[in-house]
Amino acid sequence: MDIQSLEDIEVKLLLEAVSLRYGYDFREYTAAPLRRSILTGMAGEGVSTISAYQDRLLHDTSCLQRFLSTVGVSVSSMFREPDTWRCLRDDVVPHLRTYPSIRVWSVGCATGEEVYSLAIALQEEGLLHKTSIYATDMNEDALAVAKAGSCSVERLRSYESDYLRSGGHSSLSTFFTSSGRVARLKRDLLHNVTFAQHNLVTDTSFNDFHLIICTNVLIYFRPTLQQRAHRLFYDSIIRSGFLALGQRESLVFAPESSRYHQVSDGVSVFRKVR
Ligand SMILES: C[S@@+](CC[C@H](N)C(=O)[O-])C[C@H]1O[C@@H](n2cnc3c(N)ncnc32)[C@H](O)[C@@H]1O
Repeated sequence: MDIQSLEDIEVKLLLEAVSLRYGYDFREYTAAPLRRSILTGMAGEGVSTISAYQDRLLHDTSCLQRFLSTVGVSVSSMFREPDTWRCLRDDVVPHLRTYPSIRVWSVGCATGEEVYSLAIALQEEGLLHKTSIYATDMNEDALAVAKAGSCSVERLRSYESDYLRSGGHSSLSTFFTSSGRVARLKRDLLHNVTFAQHNLVTDTSFNDFHLIICTNVLIYFRPTLQQRAHRLFYDSIIRSGFLALGQRESLVFAPESSRYHQVSDGVSVFRKVR
């Protein structure tokens, strides 16, 4: 029998406790980032052992939201990985244009920067008015931030170069109104966006999407969980629809990998071919 380290045992027990108490199941997440996040969470809570962290999580329900944001890594930025956005504009938009209406699912949208990027790119390409965007994440606090549609003026400035590299037509400030140090996304850009909680570990598929974008989420999943997510994506995309992943993500663990082809070299954007 394998004797496990004390830390491994404590991590397992903590994940089991969170799953039993709250129904969030992180047991199939990749070990190294999970461990780092747990250590970060412990520092934030001011506890010195994983067992003490488990105790806090079990008895203080407010600790769960902080845990979800730390372990789920709810960090994002606009037009992150601009080559992917460039590919979406150059190689995917021309196909989307041919449909009378378009459905897009942004999976693991975190605090909304990906959704704002989508809305802006689709607006610039003249497609936003006929597009419905479903933006989901397992973390309700992140979704609440996403719905608010605002960010600091400094952060907005820091996104400008990626926006331009992604093929942006003007300046990001065109799409925001600023008051003091806060920039607010113009409300009409979020008219066709529905924000909802959805967990890739436990929930089922939505249907008939022309494009699913799920970036920097699967990297945190072990192969079995990636397989589950891929099955869900495959079932949710229409034939000839598109799947955009992060640059460090791929179809390696997708049972349906032979049913997609890569849209462009060097970016993880795929078209479902059968
Ligand atoms: C690193 S962020 C990525 C945000 C954005 N997609 C991007 O690339 O900037 C990962 C997001 O995935 C979400 N997430 C993690 N596990 C999830 C799950 N099982 N189901 C749904 N969302 C999940 C987290 O809450 C977090 O907001």
